[in-house]
Formats: sequence, structure tokens, C-alpha cells
Amino acid sequence: MGIYLGIDIGTSGTKTLAIREDGSILAAATAEYPLASPHPGWSEQNPEDWWQATIKTVRKVMADGQCDKSDVRGIGLSGQMHGSVFLDKQQQVIRPALLWNDQRTAAECDEIERRTGGRKRLISMVANPALTGFTAPKILWLRNHEPRHYDRLTQVLLPKDFVRHRLTGEFATEVSDASGTLLLDVKRRQWSQALLNKLEIDPAVLPKVYESEEVSGQLSQTAAKLLKLPVGIPVVGGGGDQAAGAVGNGIVRRGLISATMGTSGVVFAHSDEMQVDPDGRVHTFCHAVRGKWHVMGVVLSAGGSLQWYRNQLAQEEVRVAQRQKIDPYELITRQAAEVPAGCEGLYFLPYLTGERTPHADPYARAAWIGLSLRHGRGHLARAVMEGATYAMRDCLEIIKGMDIPVREIRLSGGGARSSFWRQMQADVYGQKVVTINAEEGPAYGVALLAAAGTGAFKNVEEACQQTISIVSNTSPSAERKVYQKTYPLYGKLYSSLKADYRTIAELVAGK
Ligand code: XUL
Repeated sequence: MGIYLGIDIGTSGTKTLAIREDGSILAAATAEYPLASPHPGWSEQNPEDWWQATIKTVRKVMADGQCDKSDVRGIGLSGQMHGSVFLDKQQQVIRPALLWNDQRTAAECDEIERRTGGRKRLISMVANPALTGFTAPKILWLRNHEPRHYDRLTQVLLPKDFVRHRLTGEFATEVSDASGTLLLDVKRRQWSQALLNKLEIDPAVLPKVYESEEVSGQLSQTAAKLLKLPVGIPVVGGGGDQAAGAVGNGIVRRGLISATMGTSGVVFAHSDEMQVDPDGRVHTFCHAVRGKWHVMGVVLSAGGSLQWYRNQLAQEEVRVAQRQKIDPYELITRQAAEVPAGCEGLYFLPYLTGERTPHADPYARAAWIGLSLRHGRGHLARAVMEGATYAMRDCLEIIKGMDIPVREIRLSGGGARSSFWRQMQADVYGQKVVTINAEEGPAYGVALLAAAGTGAFKNVEEACQQTISIVSNTSPSAERKVYQKTYPLYGKLYSSLKADYRTIAELVAGK
């Protein structure tokens, strides 16, 4: 039976997975790397780290899974979206890559709107507004702030496509990740010549665009030697981590939605036609399913807010958990479960790193609001979890407002592993939620794409149908009624603070 490798170039590390064509997992391996923030709001990584992590994890899964290298039939690539790898004509990396969560490009987003004749006109060209995390403003930032580097620029690649270049020697990307550059004509699934003209970006710096399951190249001799694999293994397009994760969750039909609570939180809906929110609050991108699209809302610090709480305020719980050999989140969740839903008037706004959906505001900041003497650690923790979940509901409400049916919500990420958080999600969304058998996310999705693209399945839909099934259901409880009352105020709190966030940012910048 054939073996397929899925490689996901994540923000905290690279994860590689080997699966058989029946979807069963042979082995998984991860290798971590650092993230640098040389200035407030900056977020960078060294692309060479991704490549070294790829070599390490591929070798490890092959050894751990006792895989016969002659059985490897295809490789799929996934990765953090929107990042910019700048290469010169010797194909060397010019400077560290700017990542999806980098917030330095507010002025370049304004410049893009100016050059295109405004936000509405821009959305009509590329289906999305300019957001600080996207790739196009990063290219403009390089031109505006590091002209010496810009002069050497010959190629811009997304993180997983840099790894593809190392694997195959090809400069290539695929439609789902390319959508997040802001330079793709999302409707026609090709680079937008019109926008490139307006931004004065040479189309030659962009790679060739494939559909996600299409073969984009073969493993080169140099890469094969490093990975200890045979030369010539096909490498398919793959997908940006959200589209790839959605394939791994089986979100390949109308009516299916996923809610992934990882560091960021993403509500993702499959769509048969291209559907755009005229206000640009959710992203409209090509799906990793041929000829289909998706709509998604992104909460920048969802699980990330609870991680921040654990690291900064729950040192005692971390110590006790270490002694008891349990996960600190288990203790934090137990404390949260002891206080009532709605936290007796305490709210948490999860905007630790600004926000994308629905506010698209790099200046937004986090806050607990409503603290009183009555509130203790359990309240603080539960409010963080509720705040992140309300933010996910914000995304869901916009999607529903676009007349996209929400028939089934599939949960994944850290928020799906805790039964307490699953119940909270069912109650806040006001709808039944389910989990599925596959928990490996984007790496699994692109391993399936590799299998579909090299002929093991008729298409991606068939690959998902044959490998993915539902394993748990959670229906809303009585607490649903509490959240029906508390959720509307959550949105109002941001509106009340919006102008003050701008003032705080100016104070921090010393203006
Ligand atoms: C999606 C997004 C993140 C990154 C990092 O738009 O920015 O999900 O892909 O995972």
C-alpha cells in the first residue's frame, strides 16, 4: 500500500506525518524553531530553520513508521500562510521572513487602498481588504523601508513554497495559500495583473500557481539525498494551513463548518461559489478543493489567550501540574468549571495581538472588564475561555449572515480536546458540535491531497469520505440561555474602546 507524506511548516514548529492510503497514520514527528520579534509588533523567522526541520522530521517519520522508502508515492506541503520569503537571484534568502502575525505594515495597507481607489474597489479585485498580516503589504514594506534589499529581490515565496523550492527546485504555489497574498484574482484563480500593475510589482517575482492537488514538481537529487528518499517523488500543491486543515477535517462540502481553536481561532466554511462579505470582515479564499472556495474568520489570539494566561498568571497551577504529572490546562479548566457561565459579569476581550475578524484592528488590545472583589482565579480563566469563544461566534455570525448554511460544526485544535471547552462552544454557538477521528490537522489534509493528486483517490472529496468519520457529538446545555444574554454585550465592549486603543498605541509609540 502506498505511503503519503504531509509536511506542515507551522509557526512553532514543523510537523511531518506519514499515512497509508486508507488514511491510517504510520508516524508523526515535529521539530521546533524560534520566532523573533526584533521590534514591538514584528514577527520573523529564518526560512533555513523550516528546511532543517523538514529534513529532520521526514527522516524521523520514515524511521519511526518503519516505512519502506520505495512505497512513498507523494508529498503534500502545508504551512503558516501569508509569510514572505524574499530571495535574490542566487536564490539566497535576503532577510528573515515576515510572518502572518507581523503587524508592521499598517501604512502599506493604507498605501494599497490608496493605489487601488479604496477598500471597496480592492475587494472587487481580489475579494479581500488589505490586512497587516497579508503578503502584498510586506512586499511594499520591503520597498519602502529596506530599498537595498528590495533592489535584490527576484522571487517572493510563501513559507511552504520555500520548502517546495528546496524539495523540487521549482518556484510554485497553489491557489489556497496564494489567495492570502492579496495578489490573487480569487475568482479566476490566477495572479491579478490589474492589482500588480497598480502596486507596481513585477509579476516575475511570483511563483507559478497550481490547484492544490496538482503535482507541482518532483523530489530533486539533492533533496532526495538529504531526506533519504528516492528521486522523483511527486510533490503536490498542498494548501495554506487553514485550507489544508479543513481538508483534514473533511470540510469539503456545502453546509460543513470547522471551528479550530489553536493559537489563533478559525471558523472555516466551504463554499461552492465565491462569496464575499462586502465589508471584508471575513476572508474569501480559494479552497484546496479544485474549483471551490471558502470563507473564514480569523481570531488572532484564541487558544493563544489561554496560553498567555497559563504562562503569565498560572505559574502555581503549572507547578502543581508538574508534580501531579498532568497538563496544567487540566487544572486551569477545573478551576474555570467551578464558576458559573457568564463569570458573574466578568468579560475578557482576547485582542492580545490586535484582531482580524470582525474588527481588522491592529491596535485593539486585550482586557478583563467587569472585575469585582467577588472574582477569583476561576473567573479569570473562564472569562478568557469565554472571550475566545465569543470571538469565534462573531466569525460564525458573519458567515451565517452571508447565507452560508451551517449544518454541522466540526471542532478541532486544543479547544476540541477539552470536554469543558467543547460544551462551552456548543452553548456559545447555540448549536450541536462534533469531533472527528482525524486530529492531525493540516499535515493530514495535505497527505490526503498528495494521495488524491497522485491517483489513490478520484478526488479530494472521495479521499475525505473514505477516511474521515464523526466520533463525538455535544449538544447545547442549559447554559446556552446564559450566553444568549451575555454575548451581545461582548461586541459592544470593543466598540466602546475602539478609539482609546488608537490613543494607547500612540502613547506606546511616544507620539
Ligand atoms: C490564516 C492565518 C493563520 C496562519 C498561521 O489566515 O493567518 O492561520 O496561517 O497558522
